[in-house]
Amino acid sequence: MRALHILTFAIAIFLYVDALPYDKPKVHTIPLKPRSITRRRFSKRAIGSMQLSVDRGYYGQITFGTGTPQNFDILFDTGSGSLFVLDKNCDSPECNDKPKYDPDVDKSFSPIDGKYFFIDYADGSEIKGNSGKTTIVIAGISVEAQEFGLADEVSGDFDHPWEGIMGMELIDTSGNQQITPITNLINNTQQLDNPQFSFLLGRKDQSPSELTIGGSNPDRYHADTLTFTQLVDDNDGQWEIPIDNCVVEGEELNLEGRTGFIDTGTERIFMPPDDAHDFYSKIYDAEDDGDGTYKLDCGSVYDVALEFSGKTWDIAPQDFTVEIAKDICIGAVIYDENVPESKWVIGSAFLRNVYTIFDQGNRKVGFAQLA
Ligand SMILES: *[C@@H]1O[C@H](CO)[C@@H](O)[C@H](O)[C@H]1NC(C)=O
Repeated sequence: MRALHILTFAIAIFLYVDALPYDKPKVHTIPLKPRSITRRRFSKRAIGSMQLSVDRGYYGQITFGTGTPQNFDILFDTGSGSLFVLDKNCDSPECNDKPKYDPDVDKSFSPIDGKYFFIDYADGSEIKGNSGKTTIVIAGISVEAQEFGLADEVSGDFDHPWEGIMGMELIDTSGNQQITPITNLINNTQQLDNPQFSFLLGRKDQSPSELTIGGSNPDRYHADTLTFTQLVDDNDGQWEIPIDNCVVEGEELNLEGRTGFIDTGTERIFMPPDDAHDFYSKIYDAEDDGDGTYKLDCGSVYDVALEFSGKTWDIAPQDFTVEIAKDICIGAVIYDENVPESKWVIGSAFLRNVYTIFDQGNRKVGFAQLA
């Protein structure tokens, strides 16, 4: 899911920073565990995998706190940078009947006084609350003094099977200025085998979905097909890579200088309107609905592929043609005038077709053929 500012870009970042009533950012000091050189050299570092559930997004369990550990379903989102969980003081209707975090029973919790938490996502949901720190555990790996938002107010759009979102951008660009759990693990404690995390994004109820932190799971992909693409230099802390090409029904779109945000928190592929019109002009029976979508024939099979670093990856027909109602289908490519010029948001409609390695240490994204 894109934090809204992504779509309106730099201007919005400045507006948010100006508009946010919280205190000036403080220097974050995170205690490093003292370790002897010998122990450090020989200590086994961590890699952990966890299974994910899928329902309009890929989510899995994160444990918050110590004393009485509290487990929550959290969406894993490479398109945003903040972590939050629903707080026990949340009285928005969307919080009813959902598990909520209780800081009072968490022995590791410390509030960050006066630091307001706010984020609004491209899907319209808005989250407000306070900030705090605690120990969290993801895929068996523990992150101490992790900053997060305690969501006291969520908008009516927050109708999801999960109770929070973990942003996995390189840095938190959403204005909350948190250090992400992944960045904490890589930069501050060097706890991971590799400065990477990887996703297998399955199709609903058909195939497994999995997140691996600290490397990748070699059982899930063909290593000889793994191809990395460096992030663009001006990535602003986002997983943004150059797109070589897009092939529709055997025809190349002759677009130059396009880049894509690799976003596990978005279901579809978003393009600026001109690019999407170009894209669908190659599909003879595509019909512009005027609302960002194009209608397609549910019974037809369309060949669509994206090319990165000289390698072409097909999008399977079941990912490209989306049945939104009985016998009514649209293409997974959506146009939106809020998408910045020459930038595409590449969500799970594409990512289900590859194994994806987010290499944060080396600032690159790898795609490989699924095993
Ligand atoms: C983490 O380390 C990278 C590489 O040294 C650096 O560019 C980045 O700014 C660091 N992030 C934080 C939040 O300290």
